[in-house]
Formats: sequence, C-alpha cells, structure tokens
Amino acid sequence: MEHDDEALRRYLDGRLGEGYLDTRLERELPGGEPVFDAATWAFHPENLPIARAGLRMALRVGGLYRRGQRNARTLEVRHHDLALPGLSDAMSGFRLLQISDLHVDVDPDFGHVLAEQLRDLSWDACVITGDFRYRTNGDFTPALRGFEHISRVLHGPVYAILGNHDSIRMVPSLEALGARVLVNEGIHLRGIGHGGGGVWLAGVDDPHFYRQHDIRRALADRPDGLPALLLAHSPEPYREAASAGVDAMLCGHTHGGQIRLPGGVPLVTNADCPREFTSGAWRWQGLQGYTSVGAGSSVLDVRYNCPAEVVLHRLVPRSPVE
Ligand SMILES: [Fe+2]
Repeated sequence: MEHDDEALRRYLDGRLGEGYLDTRLERELPGGEPVFDAATWAFHPENLPIARAGLRMALRVGGLYRRGQRNARTLEVRHHDLALPGLSDAMSGFRLLQISDLHVDVDPDFGHVLAEQLRDLSWDACVITGDFRYRTNGDFTPALRGFEHISRVLHGPVYAILGNHDSIRMVPSLEALGARVLVNEGIHLRGIGHGGGGVWLAGVDDPHFYRQHDIRRALADRPDGLPALLLAHSPEPYREAASAGVDAMLCGHTHGGQIRLPGGVPLVTNADCPREFTSGAWRWQGLQGYTSVGAGSSVLDVRYNCPAEVVLHRLVPRSPVE
C-alpha cells in the first residue's frame, strides 16, 4: 500500500495543498469496516451485515423487497432550470447532467442497469456529485468496474467530486475512465461554440465525513465576473458557500431519505442542514442550491416513495433582482 500511495502522491503532485493527502489518507478508515467511527461519531449501518440482513428479511416478509428493488433500479429524469447571474449568451441553455450517489457496487450489474437508462439522454457536460462506492472502506475495484459500464455512455466532458464513501486512492482510476475529479479545484467550463464567458465549475472534497472541503481554494483561480457553480457532495457547507460568493451549488449525499413514508416524509437524511435543503431545489440568501436524491442506494438496494433520479439542469441567466 505504501508503494501505491507513493504512486498516488506522484499522480496528484501539485494539485493538492501541503499536507492534504497525508491527512486524507489518515482519515480513510484503516482496515476493517467499522460500524461506528469514534473519531467523527459517524455511524455506518452499511457495514453492519446483521442490520442489513434483518432489514432485508423484514421487507421480504412484508412482501415489499422486490418492489423496493424495482424502484431502486428505475431512474427518473428530472429537469431543472439553474439560474446564474452574469451568464453569457454562449452558456445560456447549456445542459448539465447531474448524477449523484451511484453506490454502483451495491450490486454487480447495477452499473450496467444504469448505463442502459442513460444511453439515450443528451447533455453538454456531466457532473457526478460523489459516492461512486457503496462500501466506506476496503476494495474499491467493484465500484470502478461498475462505473466503467456507465463511463461508456457518458459523452462530452465529465467532472466529479468525492463523497464520504469514496477513497482518494480512486482518483487516478476515475480519471482514466474519463471523469476529471475536482479535489478543491476549479475549471473554466466554456459554452457551446467556445464563445466568451463561461462558468467557473468548482469542486470540493467531501464535507460530510472527511471535512477536507476548501471552497475558497476551489474558487481561487476564478476569472472576474464568471458565475461560480460549486459541486459539493453534501449541502452541509451552504453557509460557507454563500459567504465565499458561490452562485449555485449542486449536491447529493442525502438520498432524499431513500425510504420515505407515504406522503414523502423521509425517515433519515443524514445531513446537518435544514430539511428543505435535503432534496430538490433550495435557496439560501444569494445561493441557489439543488440536492439530488441520487441514482443509487445505500444500506439496501431498495427505495420507497423516493425514486432514483438523474437531473438535467439547464443553465439560464438570473436577473439582478432575483
Ligand atoms: Fe454520501
């Protein structure tokens, strides 16, 4: 592993701040797959086989399991207008496909199932807002294998961020599959025809568990006047984003609860933020946000009253009075 980490260090050389990689690797849970991480008080029920088995058994007895699996394997395509101040004409109408929380290793053929449903969609650029992986530790090759199926149908540029289930050791392989991972970094996203203007697309490391997100660093090279669009795995740093001057923020992580009561009330959302920020469009001061309920599922491969989704955001200019 030490040898591999040296290769990782060389690969990421110059992209991350001083000491960043050492801290990230230290925080990645060592060996085993703890159910409770005392350092962060984080609970990982996905690492407790008996809890998953018990829940699965209860759903089977209740006759709900297969229906939940069908729900989890059927993507809905949501359409959303993302209004940005100062958007150039060349970027107006730009279509950004957001895919979140793939957890693609939840099932060996899940990547293939999702790829088939994405194949006929069209978009100009794709963003993946974290949690490629289902497990929070250990072997990530099943997640990469699943993502490989999906990467084959992702045309155009693909930008991604890491979630709390993802290892930074996955970055070289994800980038080899065509997804440029933004680790507290930003890029100038240009419009159709490469006209003037564009959008500063910033992406931060996971703010939920690893908490190594650095929004100001991701915005540091933003040219004056360019709208700032932030990718952050969880909506939790919304205040930081607003005070750093971010115009819009795309996130995931919450799964919208994944299992909701009839009427759409989530049982848990696993995010320290107002509940209205945990799914769909929201607003905080001058910051426009969208939290995707995700394409995948966690703990169990089921969903109830909370369909899996991908989101087609259409960039539109925001008027100064909005
Ligand atoms: Fe997550």
